Amino acid sequence: MTESIIQLPTAGESIFETYDRISRRGPVVPIELPGGVPAWIAVSYQAVSEVLAGDGRLFSKNAENCPSLHDGTIPADWPLRALTDIDHMLNKDGADHRRLRKTISQAFTPGRVAALEPRIRKIAARLIDDFPDGDEIDIVSSFTTPFPVRVICELFGVPESDQPQIRQWSTAVVSHTSTAEEMQSAVQGMIGYLAELLERKRTELGDDLASALLQANAENDLSTDELVNMLWLVIIAGHETTVHMLGNAVIALCAHPEQRAIALAADRWSDVVEETLRYRSSVLAPFVRYAQGDVTVAGVRIPAGSLVFWYGSVGRDPEHYPNADTFDIDHDHRDQLAFGRGPHFCLGAPLARLESRIALSALFTRYPRLSLACDPEHVPYGPQFITVGPLSVPVRLAPTG
Ligand code: HEM
Repeated sequence: MTESIIQLPTAGESIFETYDRISRRGPVVPIELPGGVPAWIAVSYQAVSEVLAGDGRLFSKNAENCPSLHDGTIPADWPLRALTDIDHMLNKDGADHRRLRKTISQAFTPGRVAALEPRIRKIAARLIDDFPDGDEIDIVSSFTTPFPVRVICELFGVPESDQPQIRQWSTAVVSHTSTAEEMQSAVQGMIGYLAELLERKRTELGDDLASALLQANAENDLSTDELVNMLWLVIIAGHETTVHMLGNAVIALCAHPEQRAIALAADRWSDVVEETLRYRSSVLAPFVRYAQGDVTVAGVRIPAGSLVFWYGSVGRDPEHYPNADTFDIDHDHRDQLAFGRGPHFCLGAPLARLESRIALSALFTRYPRLSLACDPEHVPYGPQFITVGPLSVPVRLAPTG
């Protein structure tokens, strides 16, 4: 009997159930995206490694190299075009990609990230000091969302009063329930805002990353549109991912108090971060690639022109990780794939690691007995299949008994 193509997402089941069904089907699986658009997803560690090794050669990130986006096969109002059509480095290959990445890398240096540590610690401490009164709070709205939003916005000089709007635009962009108009309006709203921010920085350079980007560009030749789209990409990728990473980590640590006790006793927060990324990565479908010919991945033939994703929770592959379904901070994380590999390796990985370590350590050191105030089965998740994390998580800060 022929198996039917799995829809991603599938109505009536959780996104995790859908991904579980997909990953049980084989190393590379045909899927159907919203709007009935066919695609493929690499799910085994071997298949994901092969896809990433083919970047810029077997696979392109540039939508111009995907015939079905231009020949009428995929409709003009397909909502995900808001993500495929925008001109930024995650949608570029080869020399085009290197040109953009070189400029941001000159501004976003390891030294700049390391220098943020004291400020990031203060942001975490202030949010925890400001928790609402009472023992039971929603940790997502009080901490795991505002913390990464504040870090990335401060880094780029976005004032605190504008930060909720940035979060709202980002959420609309990654929700598959947004209509094409809602997605385009969120993209354009944020692009317009960032164009004004960049203009202001041109006249009053500050000690922020938008100013550093302008200074780095003095030696390069990026257009204003390219700079604005760069800010758009880095600000969205720089918090949407970490918001959910922290939500996923809080849930995992509450479900595994013995792991939390080890982390607290031995300051193993870096290992907690790596294990959360392996066990439940917040980026479940890093954005799409296009097959540049018929390509065979892990023995499966993907036809030319196909849209191809890879599974961000590839850390659950039992062929690669012993006890893959067990949350254990002693897992070997040296070959972590949650940040990708190759030319598009996550630009913000050092910041994500630093801020997640600081946030979890600050939260659980202040509230070592923090626990879930609901059944984990009842935690609501957002309408998303690209990034995934809880929408709210009621916790008790210091339960008695
Ligand atoms: C836990 C947090 C994060 C995770 C799991 C994550 C994951 C990823 C992954 C998997 C990719 C590769 C995408 C692909 O291969 O198609 C990527 C790329 C990228 N990430 Fe992250 N990321 C995180 C945090 C951040 C942060 C904090 C920033 C910025 C400050 C950031 C900025 C970027 C950018 C700009 C790219 C595109 C790089 C390029 O195309 O050269 N990410 N990220």
